[in-house]
Amino acid sequence: MRRTAPLRRRPALAAALLLLALLVPAAPAAADDRHPGRGGEESLVETPWVIAHRGASAYRPEHTLAAYRLAVRQRADVIEPDLVPTSDGHLIARHENELGGTTDVDERPEFADRRTTKVIDGVRVTGWFAEDFTLAEIKTLRAEERIPDIRPRNTRYDGRYEIPTFEEVLEVWEQGRRRNRDLLLIPELKHGGYFDSIGLDTEAMLAATLRERGLDGRRSPVIVQSFEPGSAREVDRLVDVRVVQLISGAQRELTTPGALDEVAEYADAIGPDLRWVLPIGADGRADEPTPLVADAHDRGLLVTPYTLRSENAHLPDGYDIGADPTRYGDYLDYYVAVYATGVDGVFSDNPDHLYRAREAYERAQRRP
Ligand code: G3P
Repeated sequence: MRRTAPLRRRPALAAALLLLALLVPAAPAAADDRHPGRGGEESLVETPWVIAHRGASAYRPEHTLAAYRLAVRQRADVIEPDLVPTSDGHLIARHENELGGTTDVDERPEFADRRTTKVIDGVRVTGWFAEDFTLAEIKTLRAEERIPDIRPRNTRYDGRYEIPTFEEVLEVWEQGRRRNRDLLLIPELKHGGYFDSIGLDTEAMLAATLRERGLDGRRSPVIVQSFEPGSAREVDRLVDVRVVQLISGAQRELTTPGALDEVAEYADAIGPDLRWVLPIGADGRADEPTPLVADAHDRGLLVTPYTLRSENAHLPDGYDIGADPTRYGDYLDYYVAVYATGVDGVFSDNPDHLYRAREAYERAQRRP
């Protein structure tokens, strides 16, 4: 059965607090009230969710308005934009600040002299960086498919779409809410600490936008994510909005019960690399689930792992069909197996496939 995703309220008070929330302007609550745990919280949108990773990015170049619009049509519950800043302080939708992998910047002679090498979060990166471009300059670029070898069909869209601002993403999401009033948005701030170090406070930019648009408050349909605990905590301090602590494959230390206790002080959910939930064994096949979902739920945290992709190239051994890495494998069975771990949502580049998998999972749940 589908469950309801919680806000943080005790059951006996839920109805009265809902009435209050509708009658009075939202104000940041005391930390204890904001994080009493998952068990007694009020529903927001039913889980488990279908989360469109970078839009419907299996079918359109990622982080384009076309990718987000398609995700809405494919009945995603949640749309995910990643955010980085421009030099003049605008948030734009890109997975990383280096622009060469997903735009045509490398074909633009006028920007050839912007190519440079930086160390971002300890990693040496060479290319063109969003923070070295004004928004007007960014708007002259066009999006390109990130993985043309795996998604050759998407290259037909190369050169068609602009790089969207967060404001433009919000407008598309608002349009999507006319079709699905429960549609959520889950922006992710990238490299928050690095951008702070060069004077671009992306947490403050995001908080200001959410407040200006009335998208703060415990019932806000916007949920903010970050891999960096410092950035996630800062968002939690700056604006009354729900927060996801992402956990990469290199952040094992955040999956322990002790670490989850700390995460539950400022976050509402964890977004772990899927391998922390359903590991891949040495034989390349999906292994037994870990206790992470139960450990997180015990602490009032939702669990929304990433990322499901339907091509053979991205599926565990045993779910592939044939040898062509670009062809779809037996994604449906794998996606159902992921839902069966008890997660509250999953990120996928293929929201349509994930939607079908959730239907199959729920049908199986209803069987006696
Ligand atoms: O935000 C969840 C998921 O998108 C994290 O992975 O690398 O796509 O940002 P990534």
